[in-house]
Amino acid sequence: MCGIVGYTGPSQAAPILLDGLRRLEYRGYDSAGVVVQSGGELKMVKARGSVAHLAGLTGGGRELEGVCGLAHTRWATHGAPTDTNAHPHLSEHGLFAVVHNGIIENFAALRSELEAEGIVFRSKTDTEVVAHLLEKYYDGDLKRAVMRTVSRLEGSYVLGVVCSKEPGRLFCVKEAGPLILGLGVGENYFASDVTALVARTKNVIYMEDGEFAELTAERVTVYDRTGREVTKSVSHVVWDIEAAEKGGYEHFMMKEIMEQPRAVKNTVEPRIRSGRIAFEDFSLTRAELEGYNKIVITACGSAYHAGVVGKYVIEGLCRIPVETELASELRYRDPIIDGHTLLIVISQSGETADTIAAMRECMSRGARCLAIVNVVGSTIARLADNVIYTHAGPEISVATTKGYTTQLAALYLFAVWAAELLGRVDAGRYAQLVDSLLELPRLVQRAIDLNVHVKYLAERWHGQQSLFFIGRNIDYAVAMEGSLKLKEISYIHSEAYAAGELKHGTIALIDEKRLVVALCCQDGLFDKMVSNVQEVKARGAKVLGVAPEGNRRIFAEADDVLFAPRGEQLFAALPEIVPLQLFAYYVARENGCSIDKPRNLAKSVTVE
Ligand code: F6R
Repeated sequence: MCGIVGYTGPSQAAPILLDGLRRLEYRGYDSAGVVVQSGGELKMVKARGSVAHLAGLTGGGRELEGVCGLAHTRWATHGAPTDTNAHPHLSEHGLFAVVHNGIIENFAALRSELEAEGIVFRSKTDTEVVAHLLEKYYDGDLKRAVMRTVSRLEGSYVLGVVCSKEPGRLFCVKEAGPLILGLGVGENYFASDVTALVARTKNVIYMEDGEFAELTAERVTVYDRTGREVTKSVSHVVWDIEAAEKGGYEHFMMKEIMEQPRAVKNTVEPRIRSGRIAFEDFSLTRAELEGYNKIVITACGSAYHAGVVGKYVIEGLCRIPVETELASELRYRDPIIDGHTLLIVISQSGETADTIAAMRECMSRGARCLAIVNVVGSTIARLADNVIYTHAGPEISVATTKGYTTQLAALYLFAVWAAELLGRVDAGRYAQLVDSLLELPRLVQRAIDLNVHVKYLAERWHGQQSLFFIGRNIDYAVAMEGSLKLKEISYIHSEAYAAGELKHGTIALIDEKRLVVALCCQDGLFDKMVSNVQEVKARGAKVLGVAPEGNRRIFAEADDVLFAPRGEQLFAALPEIVPLQLFAYYVARENGCSIDKPRNLAKSVTVE
């Protein structure tokens, strides 16, 4: 939520900042702004609307002359998305400009204090207090002003700070939220995400909570909360800028759907050597694993849906009880979790605030934490005891696709590995499961190839007001994700329901206007699903069936059909979601929706 970027060096800052901002726009896109130091002053342009709009207002940044500055793209928390509430925010006399990602929880008290001192606020944001505090505490020592200001703040914040009286000098601060420093030659950067920097440098420093940094063109210095210098290691980003570009696709979402065979391969293959699963970055002994009396999986949104699939698969193979719980709920409970609980946290971004809070809560009760994460060096990856990186590559579209399927692949790997360690599968079944894991990339490609007609089905069904996704067991978990995908990008109301539960009330909503997407990919439950399909058809609903390739009975039951290639039943969710991702994409496209940046959403939900 909100993207920030800073640059100091010999080049014109604004075009570089706008380019970085464009790549961060998935984090928030209701307004944007840029500020540069120029002739002893701060020159700022900010406006409601997209980064492209801001670029239009500044001639692509060329009209803002200056070699050091900050920029921001916003996802509104405090104050409506207006020109005035857009970041950066200036201090009373224009000495300081600040950009911010997060929430200053004590901003109301700080605002009253500053107003009582005669300061007039321009915006409704929580951020503006930071600019005024900086000016209040600045006595010629910028580092001290930053430290005094930060000591007054409560909440979550990543800040970028520039001062008109300190040419070529930037500060940035991290307290809950992502912040990366980029090291160039004679120029330096900071940003919310490496995607903003990778076109210019691949050498980065991941900042920790409680740290702040000072940047000049020549030098980057990182400090801890007390102002003591900290030695940081420099990491090298392994992917290229092409990975963060659309590569000829109309939308990132479609590009990322098409990338799934390779992404799943990147998750699975490096962990399988000579027919055996091995994780490079963690190990558990059989005795340790036997010491856990349950596994708790926690996550948000699609990652939670992956966790629901994980419950079926881990319980099915390992016979350990698994609870899957929404992180936003878990964090405010008094959960029964101790040293005998293995916690699995799932997150594409590794920065989701609720997931981090739930994770901290469980770890404080003694649970060991295994994180399944995509973004290397993210907060969740750093807090966890062990990490399985999904290696999906950058995911830019707000609606996750390859993020989700690679989470499934990582969960499957873990389940098979743990089942073998516990002696719950024999050598023959283990070998079969490992082969099935290696087959997943091919099945994903097959799922794409099998469903070229999905575009025409979307043309036919895009006018729906509301629809249901139904399924049983793993298919129910897939229904949740299929339904979320559709609603978040097409704005059509949709609900996932356990097929057998429909008749306990919700069937009252089924009538001849309703489309029901019936997921029928669990062989043992096919007949049960046929009964549920009959129930909704008897009430006039139309049915879009999802069935395994080669199943002909579905034609007699459903009005239209999508296919999922056949493979290991336990892993069916992974290829099965692909036609539903495509369906959601084409329905949204048909309805003219903003596919990569749906309304009200942001990619990385770093506020509660
Ligand atoms: C939906 C979607 C979200 C995320 C959720 C968790 O398409 O992307 O529901 O899955 O916000 O995000 P991460 O995985 O980054 O923790």
